[in-house]
Amino acid sequence: MSESLQTTLESYRQRVDAFILERLDSVEPNAPVLRDAMRYSLLLGGKRIRPVLVYLTAELNQAPTQQVDYAAAAIEAIHAYSLIHDDLPAMDDDQLRRGQPTCHIAFDEATAILAGDALQSWAFSLLTQAEQIPAATRLTMVQTLSQAAGYQGMCAGQSIDIMATGQNQSINELEKMHRLKTGALIRAAIQLGAQAGAISDKSELQALDNYGAAIGLAFQVRDDILDVIADTETLGKPQGSDIEHHKSTYPSLLGLTEAEHKCQNLRHQALHELDTLPYNTSKLAALADFIIQRNK
Ligand code: IPE
Ligand code: IPE
Ligand code: MG
Ligand code: MG
Ligand code: MG
Repeated sequence: MSESLQTTLESYRQRVDAFILERLDSVEPNAPVLRDAMRYSLLLGGKRIRPVLVYLTAELNQAPTQQVDYAAAAIEAIHAYSLIHDDLPAMDDDQLRRGQPTCHIAFDEATAILAGDALQSWAFSLLTQAEQIPAATRLTMVQTLSQAAGYQGMCAGQSIDIMATGQNQSINELEKMHRLKTGALIRAAIQLGAQAGAISDKSELQALDNYGAAIGLAFQVRDDILDVIADTETLGKPQGSDIEHHKSTYPSLLGLTEAEHKCQNLRHQALHELDTLPYNTSKLAALADFIIQRNK
């Protein structure tokens, strides 16, 4: 990763973490254990790719950063909820996440389910509170995030994943699953950034969305590759989990080399979309590279 991307990632990561902590602690908790479980899963590590995408997209149009914090925190809250539930015994049954015990191991299963539920509703509450953004735009943002997270988006992808476990999926079915379970939230991050940054030109929005769709799919293809080639310590989650649970993945269907080609093709598509935009998109381009080269 280039030094400048690393600095950008680090500063936005710290910014969104501080904002999340401040918001989470702004009220006296009615159930301290539940709030602790939410905080545990939100703040213990993680790359913060989705919030960074929100900030970087809004930054294209020089949006004030304070205007973007709520959307950045909201998408990370949805992501954290999706990981807590993804790790549950009824889903991927994993015990390690970001180098720490998963939420249901550190707390208990019921608390983990509730922490996921509460993070999800908290995300939408955060979006409604972004007072520097016009109310009509905030409504659009709620729509964007709810569609991406819900039964036509991430949850649909997770459902297909569970149903397909142990089955032979076609490559088209696999791609659809990946676009939903992971791509939808990554696309939403870029859409939220564009909305928070008041980008309104239709063709610009389309190019950004195409970029989001390409890196969103690439992100999950790389995640599948890492499940095969990385080690548990670097990953911070159990290497080989997909193989152990008979998941359909890009490496299992196409082999590692083809999966890597797929990532490269998606990178080219993503960069091509950025080239059509009248902004300095170098950081978004660097992020696309990071997504397909990352080791964790
Ligand atoms: C992991 O997401 C789950 C997928 C959608 C593939 P990340 O790789 O972004 O996880 P963290 O937030 O950095 O831990
Ligand atoms: C998870 O996909 C996608 C979501 C959480 C929505 P994976 O099951 O591959 O993610 P990891 O590998 O456990 O992080
Ligand atoms: Mg899963
Ligand atoms: Mg998993
Ligand atoms: Mg995975």
